[in-house]
Amino acid sequence: MSCNRFENKHVLVVGAGAGMGEATTLQFAREGAKVIALDMFQDRLDRLSVKADGLAGSVDTYLGDICDPKTVNGVVDYVKTKYGTLDILAYVAGILDFMCPPEEVDDELWDRVMDVNVKSVWRIVKTAIPLMKNHKNNEASITIVSSLGGYVGSSAGTAYITSKHAVEGLMKNLAFTYKGDNVRVNCVAPGAFNTEIMETATRIFPNRNYEHGFCPKGLSIYHQQGIGTINPRTNVGIPQYIADAICFLSSKEAKFITGSSLIVDGGWYSA
Ligand SMILES: NC(=O)c1ccc[n+]([C@@H]2O[C@H](COP(=O)([O-])OP(=O)(O)OC[C@H]3O[C@@H](n4cnc5c(N)ncnc54)[C@H](O)[C@@H]3O)[C@@H](O)[C@H]2O)c1
Repeated sequence: MSCNRFENKHVLVVGAGAGMGEATTLQFAREGAKVIALDMFQDRLDRLSVKADGLAGSVDTYLGDICDPKTVNGVVDYVKTKYGTLDILAYVAGILDFMCPPEEVDDELWDRVMDVNVKSVWRIVKTAIPLMKNHKNNEASITIVSSLGGYVGSSAGTAYITSKHAVEGLMKNLAFTYKGDNVRVNCVAPGAFNTEIMETATRIFPNRNYEHGFCPKGLSIYHQQGIGTINPRTNVGIPQYIADAICFLSSKEAKFITGSSLIVDGGWYSA
């Protein structure tokens, strides 16, 4: 879609360097937004800057680990100093747990997955919310990327499934809490998508050197007992589909939508 729905809007995308976050950043910028794009890997941000060159809006990159409170405070200060306001927050960062079953998870993996996928959502929202309250016409919007793993028990590993159920609950709590402040909060829940999510987990946990980034035990459970009757390997989406869903929920066309979770999975969950 090429129009200017987000002209004069200030957007923070967390996890902007690859996959769905990259596609989302580029779509907002294509539609005129001023985007602050945060990621923990410089090479991915450099690649993003090249792709964003010449778009209608602008993309400023910000390097940092969202699990570090210094990054959270730093990026919100940056937005406040540069723009004084924030209209849209898209929290797209998330990591997989290699699809590990319970006995293959250790404390380090559990804590990191819960931190990126849940705790840091809470922390960035509570830090950024003063810049988002009471914009006109319910036009301030937060969208969190959860997963079909936030609906079912078997689509990935133990820590991941737990984190995605938790973040769906957090979204509802935030939507209710900030309704009176005119900030909408929703989730987008993807099915299977072709991104760099396996490489991201391997970069963060280089000692978990699984072939293709999957724990073999967890993968075999998943293949035997996956979701529904659709084969996830042949029902794979592209990141642009998630970017389009996030941009819709962030747009004024969605002004009466808050506390919702939009499944984007090519029909997997319904099968
Ligand atoms: N790929 C899928 O099939 C799929 C399915 C369902 C849900 N999801 C969810 O979609 C979201 C996006 O995943 P993706 O597939 O695009 O993955 P991805 O790895 O391709 O992109 C995620 C980006 O987030 C960044 N990131 C990760 N941890 C970070 C941190 N602590 N601080 C800052 N940046 C960080 C990574 O560097 C990466 O650039 C995640 O929440 C994921 O759980 C993905």
